[in-house]
Amino acid sequence: MTLKLRPLALDDVTAVHSWACLPESCRYQAWGPNTHEQTQAYVRAAVAAPPDRLVFAVLVDDDVVGNAELRLRGPSTGEIAYAVHPRLWGQGIATATARELLRLGFNEHGLHRIYGTCDPRNLASAAVLRKIGMRYEGRMRGTAYIRDGWRDSDLYAILADD
Ligand SMILES: CC(C)(COP(=O)(O)OP(=O)(O)OC[C@H]1O[C@@H](n2cnc3c(N)ncnc32)[C@H](O)[C@@H]1OP(=O)(O)O)[C@@H](O)C(=O)NCCC(=O)NCCS
Repeated sequence: MTLKLRPLALDDVTAVHSWACLPESCRYQAWGPNTHEQTQAYVRAAVAAPPDRLVFAVLVDDDVVGNAELRLRGPSTGEIAYAVHPRLWGQGIATATARELLRLGFNEHGLHRIYGTCDPRNLASAAVLRKIGMRYEGRMRGTAYIRDGWRDSDLYAILADD
């Protein structure tokens, strides 16, 4: 499997929509399932985002199978996020993607700390954050309002020195 990240492009709407329209993709998210217009708006905003928001298409063997973000939160801290098409879950794609985001954050942006958060019920995402070497730092209460009410977020982070 050859995995690479490249900046998300307007042409990626169809690919992104193929997972953003699925309930399982957004079960723990405040967005979705997306209409085509909502996915289009997300991609347009991502393409036009300021330089502190880096949005990528995740390519496996040249197919767009996911999207990922590195957000620069000030000069030394970054936040990562990712999604993969459900037909490819469990193959290590999110883990490889998150590793690449760490590499970009630490090596190319000189960050000191990178964190990720997830719904405590999102065990797959928590597994990814742990597998890339992040440590659990605690639970933030009532951070997002989703379909079934306010949800908490578990915080994981890694430092450049770790
Ligand atoms: C979270 C997500 C990106 C994971 O993608 P993925 O490519 O399947 O992830 P990986 O294959 O790299 O790793 C998933 C790990 O979670 C584990 N896992 C999956 N479901 C699990 C469950 N119900 N309980 C415990 N572990 C679980 C897998 O076993 C795997 O760990 P392993 O390699 O040690 O076996 C994917 O589920 C997704 O796109 N979800 C929707 C969007 C989302 O929630 N993004 C994260 C926002 S915080």
